[in-house]
Amino acid sequence: MGRLTAVLYDRFTQGSEVACLQAWRADLLRDLTGHVLEVGAGTGLNLPFYPSALVRLVLSEPDPHMRRELSKKVRARHAERVEVLDASLEDLQVPGEAFDAVVGTLVLCSVPRLDHALAEIHRVLKPRGRFVFLEHVAAENRPRRLRWQHRIEPIWKRLSGGCHLTRRTADAIVAAGFTIGHIQRESMRKAWPLVRPTIRGVAVKA
Ligand SMILES: C[S@@+](CC[C@H](N)C(=O)[O-])C[C@H]1O[C@@H](n2cnc3c(N)ncnc32)[C@H](O)[C@@H]1O
Repeated sequence: MGRLTAVLYDRFTQGSEVACLQAWRADLLRDLTGHVLEVGAGTGLNLPFYPSALVRLVLSEPDPHMRRELSKKVRARHAERVEVLDASLEDLQVPGEAFDAVVGTLVLCSVPRLDHALAEIHRVLKPRGRFVFLEHVAAENRPRRLRWQHRIEPIWKRLSGGCHLTRRTADAIVAAGFTIGHIQRESMRKAWPLVRPTIRGVAVKA
């Protein structure tokens, strides 16, 4: 991400945030407890929705420009107990089985290797730990849109920091050794049509 993209990120995404994402984030995060790690935390758009009673909240973000925006938001909320970590899903730099929950929202589209990233999430979760996800995915039930996603994906990846349009992320979560306890499929309103199909829910480390 460039510096300008990071600074303008919240403004770019505001339409979808107000239309649906803020409600989805609130819904996904409200029941979390214990030790929680967020991966690819970006500018911290999940921050307002974490319960205040968490024992530990670590927000990891590898991009320096996004991390600067994230740190500003953490400081502005006087969230002294929130830790910001420079780490990517290739190597989270935390011990295994350390967290009760891992949160990833709109991040698995961008990782170079989805299977490696999910294995890393699985590694850092405690047994029966929860992976809370929200991702845009392949338009599996809309053949025409799926064709366009495949056509546009090569150029889109170059323009958007490696974002894939055609990932079957739910299948990959199961293949990584999780049991999906709850999943919802819905269109991301006010978003570009090729990123509208989303999944969100909770998977448990089997
Ligand atoms: C579209 S933004 C989403 C940010 C935030 N999670 C949200 O819900 O608004 C994608 C984020 O994933 C991060 N990211 C990209 N590749 C990553 C990787 N390999 N490991 C961890 N984070 C990554 C980017 O730096 C960026 O902050």
